[in-house]
Amino acid sequence: MNSKLQAAVDEIVDQFTVDKDFLCNATDHFLESMDSGLQHHTPKREFMPMIPTYVTAIPTGKEKGLFLAADLGGTNFRVCSINLKGDHTFTLEQAKARIPDELMKDSTAEDLFAHLAKKVKQFLEEFHQELNVSEDKLKLGFTFSFPVDQSALNRGKLIRWTKGFDLPDCVDKDVVILFQNELDKLGVKVHIAALANDTVGTLLSRAYSNNPAVTNSNTVVGAIFGTGTNGAYFEKLDKIPKLKKEQITEGTTGMVINTEWGSFDNTLKVLPKSKFDEKLDLETANVGYHLFEKRISGMFLGELLRIILIDLFDQGLIFQDLYKSRGGSLPHRLAEPWQLSSEVLSYLQIDDSTSLKMSGLILENELRLPTNEEERLVIQKITQTVSTRAARLSAIPLAAIVKRVSEQYEDDDKDFEFGCDGSVVEFYPDFQAKILEAIAIINPLKGSNKKIHLKIAKDGSGVGAALCASVAK
Ligand code: GLC
Repeated sequence: MNSKLQAAVDEIVDQFTVDKDFLCNATDHFLESMDSGLQHHTPKREFMPMIPTYVTAIPTGKEKGLFLAADLGGTNFRVCSINLKGDHTFTLEQAKARIPDELMKDSTAEDLFAHLAKKVKQFLEEFHQELNVSEDKLKLGFTFSFPVDQSALNRGKLIRWTKGFDLPDCVDKDVVILFQNELDKLGVKVHIAALANDTVGTLLSRAYSNNPAVTNSNTVVGAIFGTGTNGAYFEKLDKIPKLKKEQITEGTTGMVINTEWGSFDNTLKVLPKSKFDEKLDLETANVGYHLFEKRISGMFLGELLRIILIDLFDQGLIFQDLYKSRGGSLPHRLAEPWQLSSEVLSYLQIDDSTSLKMSGLILENELRLPTNEEERLVIQKITQTVSTRAARLSAIPLAAIVKRVSEQYEDDDKDFEFGCDGSVVEFYPDFQAKILEAIAIINPLKGSNKKIHLKIAKDGSGVGAALCASVAK
């Protein structure tokens, strides 16, 4: 590699390195930020929302019955029916469809929810004809994976959109009412009994499937590392000062909290800040928010790589011959934002073919980008750098929550496990191993023999929403 290019790449690698001191400081800062969020009712940019969910218990695995779940959270909308068998198992039918781009922005809440209601209707017609004749309304758990100010198990106003959605008239409105209205208009016999974030769903569904007698572990976190990232955990009531007495029913000892950790450190007190992160933020619909998520999750990894490559190009270090041969332009899939998916990065990351020929084919196919070997080496190095930082940063909230909840489990000698879902944690090469490695460095259980396990809770959010609906009155 020529020495100028090498120096530029080394500098980027340096800026993206997350070392032990950083991890430990950031974990402490995360713990402080959790406390601030639990104190203040009105969400502010400075701290994580830490949203009380009105889910007051973790499932035991004995819950039973047929429930519907509808899941809106990223690129797809999913409707499922879940039959909880009461023995840690369930059966599930589901239909999934992409949300049309035109309903994600420049549209209205009514159009979006009318579309979702139609999908629920179609699902029931296809899978549950028998319910048409019944008088009872089926309970539906609505997984809505955006920050919501929840005021009851099935009430919550949208705080702001994330992950590319932008329908301004929906902000501050109760999304359950909007959805229920559209279901009623279509005469669909369904009652939205619970509103759940996907992380809450993942926590509940993993806790339902987990049999501690077999795994010797308690499920303490539900986490998503997919298009976005976030986590939920069970907090004791005396640690949630912002909850008022009248909001709590008698006998409640604690509540599941949706942290919205994507918004950890929006003011960048500790998070790494490179000019690339800054540029990426400016390209998003929620500038200045969810800055942790923008360093970690699937929606952003490809864009970070692209921004870095364009910067190296602007310095005259890569793609120069290509630029000339095209008469002064770069392929549009490289020149335009958001064209590079994290799935592509996962292939580039582990290519070990001679001269990285495999990467060459992938880049041609996905970006229409011809490359030479030196460019491919740079692309692979930057891909690994961006994704390693993401995985190591992902350890911070997990380690912090383990630290925080360990006193809840003082009299219990079981291990701790996280239920995780999302394309990045499930499929990105070595992502899980790197998270666990960084957690071991932070060592949140210092002085105890308990271990930490990471479990994939596939499709957790649907089952979890059904579990939420199952406890609703
Ligand atoms: C975003 C949303 C959050 C969700 C996460 C994972 O961070 O704000 O509610 O849980 O993505 O889907």
